[in-house]
Amino acid sequence: MTTGYSDLVIEHFMNPRNVGTIEDADGVGTVGNPVCGDMMTFYIKVDDAGRITEVKYKTFGCGAAIAVSSITSEMALGKTLEEARAITNQLVAQELGGLPPQKMHCSNLGADALQAAIANYEERQQADEP
Ligand code: FES
Repeated sequence: MTTGYSDLVIEHFMNPRNVGTIEDADGVGTVGNPVCGDMMTFYIKVDDAGRITEVKYKTFGCGAAIAVSSITSEMALGKTLEEARAITNQLVAQELGGLPPQKMHCSNLGADALQAAIANYEERQQADEP
C-alpha cells in the first residue's frame, strides 16, 4: 500500500527538526486550520541585521502538518526577513516533494504561521520606535 506521502514527508514526520518554543522570541505567530481545527505556532529570533537566527514551533496537528512545520522551520532558518517572506504554502509543499491532494490544506499552516511570526516581529519593532 502506498500512503501518497513522499519519503521526505515521512522522514520529517518521524524526525521533526526545531520542535519547541522560544521563551524570549522576537516574533510569535499562531494560525489554525479551519478545515480540521489543527493549530500551529511559530517562534522566531531575529538578529540586528534582520536575519532569522532561531526558529521553533509547536504543532497540534496531523502528520503532514508536523512535516510541514519541520520543513518550514528549516527553510526559514538563516534567511533574512525579506527572503523568509517569500516562503509560501506552495513552496513548502514543493520542498516536501508534494503532498497528497487531500492533505494540501495542511501545508497552509506552515507558511502562514511563519508569516504571522514575521508580522508580529515587525509590529513589535514599530511599537519600539520612539
Ligand atoms: Fe489538520 Fe492536516 S489534517 S493540518
